[in-house]
Amino acid sequence: MTEIQTRARTAEGLLPASGSTGHEWWRTAVIYQVYPRSFADSNGDGVGDLPGITAHLPALQELGVDAVWLSPFMTSPQRDAGYDVADYCDVDPLFGTLDDFDRMLEAAHALGLRVIVDLVPNHTSSDHRWFQEALASAEGSEARSHYWFRDGKGENGELPPNNWESVFGGPAWTRTTNADGTPGQWYLHLFDSSQPDLNWESPWVWEQFRGILRFWLDRGVDGFRIDVAHGMVKAKGLPDYTPEQRGGSLSGASVTLEPDISDEEPGSPMWAQEGGHDIFRDWHKVLAEYDGDRALCGEAWVSPPAKLARYVRSDEMQQTFNFTYLETPWNPDALRDVIAESLAAFNGVGAPSTWVLSNHDVIRHPTRFGLMDGSPQGHGIGPKTPYRPNKALGLQRARAATTVMLALPGSAYLYQGEELGLPEVIDLPDSARQDPTWFRTGGERYGRDGCRVPIPWTASGPSYGFSDSGKSWLPQPSEWATMARDVESDEPDSTLSLYKLLLAEREERSLGGGTLEWLEGYGDDVVAFRNGDVTVLANLGRASVPLPAGEVVLSSEQLDGDELPTDTAVWISD
Ligand code: NOJ
Repeated sequence: MTEIQTRARTAEGLLPASGSTGHEWWRTAVIYQVYPRSFADSNGDGVGDLPGITAHLPALQELGVDAVWLSPFMTSPQRDAGYDVADYCDVDPLFGTLDDFDRMLEAAHALGLRVIVDLVPNHTSSDHRWFQEALASAEGSEARSHYWFRDGKGENGELPPNNWESVFGGPAWTRTTNADGTPGQWYLHLFDSSQPDLNWESPWVWEQFRGILRFWLDRGVDGFRIDVAHGMVKAKGLPDYTPEQRGGSLSGASVTLEPDISDEEPGSPMWAQEGGHDIFRDWHKVLAEYDGDRALCGEAWVSPPAKLARYVRSDEMQQTFNFTYLETPWNPDALRDVIAESLAAFNGVGAPSTWVLSNHDVIRHPTRFGLMDGSPQGHGIGPKTPYRPNKALGLQRARAATTVMLALPGSAYLYQGEELGLPEVIDLPDSARQDPTWFRTGGERYGRDGCRVPIPWTASGPSYGFSDSGKSWLPQPSEWATMARDVESDEPDSTLSLYKLLLAEREERSLGGGTLEWLEGYGDDVVAFRNGDVTVLANLGRASVPLPAGEVVLSSEQLDGDELPTDTAVWISD
């Protein structure tokens, strides 16, 4: 193959019929994450919105994805970019109206794209009327029992009820003030103080969320991404807990803002509690009342995969994000291990494995793979971080990593902009930052703004085609001009062209529903497997390796004659 060619995907015009058991759409789907604030702005306020999404859905159909997942667009004061919901059954005016949502959903379905919406059940916004009622109610009242209100420790209740820390930094408890101005009880928030945790021991909370699920299911959504699925139920008595310190290197470190749960840390009282599974069993039944294979996808930072797979047993959720895969360093043994472990674990419960490399909470993977081993980078990267990624190397590895990922059986998630090869934006000014992590740690952790910068549609024009007004809620870097969708559409070797080709070939060869067979004989540095009629090789070593016989379907970089260069992946058919 001399160059990457793009191929248009067949436009189906109608949503494909739902599958029979074992062939449901979510088993093999490629799902594209739209982060509404940063996708496309239709009204010029510098924040993306629902009509902006509707207008650009054809670009996603052309890309070749099967579904979109929308991060929250519900009513919210936006203290955590919408993951602080004040009304679960309405659209925030920042993003439009319920009618805009219905139009977007209809347009997506007409293009053959399914739509998953984000549900945030671990916590509400502190602006939510449930929490405001709780604050206005007496200690021990029914309204307070929907959240975690507790008396403080110490002589005058001046100390938090336990030692838990917020994921965003600082204590996980905030003290309230009584109507007469005296200090009151404390409430729990695993995230920002504007995100009080709901108490899932309350049957009332269960009832509210059944209603919320039905509200969106009745409107026609195809499923939900469940925020903090592993944190909803807490250990009885809320005992103190001192987590093991985690390192921050690419070789074996968390790259995320949320601690993941592993076998080595079985004692955490806030994550991965057994009782959480009952909630998903209940929701499974609610979804089963509806036609069309509606699906739940859990955001559960739980490892190893065997433990994570318990969230997708046949009566629980349909999918769960495979963050162990996302956190895997660019190392052949680690990559083989995580793929094998994931397939074994998910096959064991009859669920598809999912695969993901980027999302709105982690450093974009072209930047992540450009950071050398040993670089601490678990909490964002910014101007004062004492190291810089190797950009060219990072992008090359990212393209190879995606070429491997899209050949794997199961369902894959893409994050908006990764199809353009966008890097993390490192040089955001402090004054522009909005992530609560940045504020709660006094600037010690940069947080996630760098992966959330509005994406470029055009090389020229106001805010690179994001907004006609030229506004953008986070400043866009000048390199967006060379990575905009219109530029990359015309370049056969661009990352966009590679993604289109990968998605078209994946669909044509039914790789999502295939079976993986490991191949031997290519050396320790080459990850080699077969799925259907495709042989996939990824060279993670330091020297080129000979290519086997067969027709090259695609490769993540130009090939070197009959050799597979380093940091390059290839698909070969018989
Ligand atoms: C996970 C979401 O992906 C993240 O963006 C959010 O800040 C936390 N959960 C809290 O809702």
